[in-house]
Amino acid sequence: MSSQTNDRKLEHVRIVQEDVHVDRRRRYFDEIRLKHRALPELSLDEIDTSVEFLGKRLSFPLLISSMTGGHHELLRKINRNLATAAEATGVAMAVGSQRVMFASPEAEDSFALRSVAPTALLFSNLGAVQLNYGFTVDDCRRAVDVVKADGLYLHLNPLQEAIQPEGDTNFAGLVDKIGDVVERLDVPVILKEVGAGFSEEDVRLAIQVGVRFIDVAGSGGTSWSRIEHHRQSETDSQDLGLLFQDWGIPTPVALRLLQPYTNEITLIASGGIRSGIDMVKAIVLGASLCGVASPFLAPAMESAEAVIALIERLRREFRTAMFVLGAPDVAYLKGNRALLLEEQ
Ligand SMILES: Cc1cc2nc3c(=O)[nH]c(=O)nc-3n(C[C@H](O)[C@H](O)[C@H](O)COP(=O)(O)O)c2cc1C
Repeated sequence: MSSQTNDRKLEHVRIVQEDVHVDRRRRYFDEIRLKHRALPELSLDEIDTSVEFLGKRLSFPLLISSMTGGHHELLRKINRNLATAAEATGVAMAVGSQRVMFASPEAEDSFALRSVAPTALLFSNLGAVQLNYGFTVDDCRRAVDVVKADGLYLHLNPLQEAIQPEGDTNFAGLVDKIGDVVERLDVPVILKEVGAGFSEEDVRLAIQVGVRFIDVAGSGGTSWSRIEHHRQSETDSQDLGLLFQDWGIPTPVALRLLQPYTNEITLIASGGIRSGIDMVKAIVLGASLCGVASPFLAPAMESAEAVIALIERLRREFRTAMFVLGAPDVAYLKGNRALLLEEQ
């Protein structure tokens, strides 16, 4: 099991690198138009892109979303480069699922990133369904301790597990177990999907058990269904992964569905966010932070500098969009429906 989980991590990285269609590039954010200002009445230099999240200041609201970790030099290098860049630029980072370190202790150091990111906002990650397969609150605590994380991501991936031949598909009775983790952990728990989105029904269940942070991780970007399709043998239900590759709630649609709950829930947007313009749109739709995953994979395999270059590109795009919306700071953007052209 330990080497299986480790091999799977490497395989995911390889598949995302080799099949360009794993990133569905659906560009759902393009359907949203914002109101341009010819008279922004601002100087570009004055624009404040920074935000505070869980008591830490970020240079702009970017999160490098959960990807990897494990007992292999490539996986260690990816996490080290991402964390070094997050620290240097003042953005947040989440590690990939830490399940692997419970079966294979040699994987632990790939998640111990405080040596290169002493102050960055860092998040741990585990699959929520593992709470139905023997994982305990103590295991969650251990995952957080290894990263010295500011919060724990619990991911929900029912579609991915259903397509995997070896998938953990018992999602019954999970909500109360998630509530138990929320109640007993010292750091905040963020529930996320992995690219299929959240509905209002999900959010209502989450709120009932005390969850206060949700990352919608909607569809439009990385498709786990397509990744799993590559991992199936001929004799398995080989087209299931392809059939479901565009399943899910597009990220901007999920944000709109959940906007009524933003008094009770802090929203994070991810899934198909590919530019600073997409980020601005996600914040206008109510998100507090924007997660980007697969575009960071290739730069992270290269160097921390390559990761920094992508972060700087996103920041410049973000700031430019703020300028031409007449937005002096991020608070001005947040949930500001008056900036949506189609709602005028
Ligand atoms: C190579 C790779 C590995 C991933 N591993 C995890 C993981 O271990 N845990 C998790 O919660 N999400 C994982 N994700 C999902 C991302 O965090 C994110 O939710 C999803 O990819 C959508 O973002 P994107 O379209 O910007 O890639 C992974 C994504 C990629 C590309």
